[in-house]
Amino acid sequence: MNAPLSSSVISSEHQNLSWAQSLKGYWQKQAYRHKNAEKLMYFMFVTGFLLWDQLSVGWAAERWLLVAHMMVGISLFLWVVGVFWSAHRQLLMRSRKSFLRITGRLTEGLLLVCVASGLYLFFYGVTGNALSVLIQDLHFYSSVILTPLVFRHAFRWSVLNLKSSRLVNLLMKRRGGNA
Ligand code: HEM
Ligand code: HEM
Repeated sequence: MNAPLSSSVISSEHQNLSWAQSLKGYWQKQAYRHKNAEKLMYFMFVTGFLLWDQLSVGWAAERWLLVAHMMVGISLFLWVVGVFWSAHRQLLMRSRKSFLRITGRLTEGLLLVCVASGLYLFFYGVTGNALSVLIQDLHFYSSVILTPLVFRHAFRWSVLNLKSSRLVNLLMKRRGGNA
């Protein structure tokens, strides 16, 4: 009588275990999928930097840059970078590479300042009072330090590192083959 019951309990436990394992496997893979997070960060920097008053690129371009920056920032950026960050930061526990650990920690801190100030600007904007100007400055300076830091942190694998780009590798192989 008990046999089918216990075997169904075992099989549901087994199913739970494989679910947990595949979720863990999925999460571990996210920790190494840095390309989209990195690209989105550069996109945010370029669209944000062009909004900087000192550049005065003109309202015609600024309104589209602002819409793109705010819409991508509040949706895709938060999702993609959020998932990558929460999986990727687990590497801190295991990694022995001190340079990557330090630059990773700094990236994390700056990312928090940049996102928190970005969300403030999104919901309240720069109203001219001292607090909003301070937050605008925090957003600007954190992003100006964050962007080269992320590039340096991810340098060997960076999407901007020409040596690691697929196109360059392909061209090099072709040239090697023709020689
Ligand atoms: C949650 C994500 C983000 C949101 C919602 C957001 C929102 C905003 C908003 C509303 C502005 C216009 C502020 C103004 O009126 O001057 C702005 C400006 C800017 N953003 Fe972001 N942002 C986000 C993330 C980022 C990231 C990741 C970077 C760069 C890595 C960045 C770089 C900039 C820069 C350089 C400016 C120009 C600041 C200035 O004019 O002083 N933002 N952002
Ligand atoms: C969006 C920003 C980030 C990007 C694009 C990025 C990218 C990368 C890349 C390409 C690597 C080397 C290859 C790899 O092991 O995957 C790496 C390693 C590492 N990152 Fe990041 N990272 C970011 C943010 C962070 C943050 C916020 C932390 C810490 C909280 C961190 C901690 C680490 C550590 C500890 C390693 C060394 C892993 C090892 O020993 O193999 N990173 N990161």
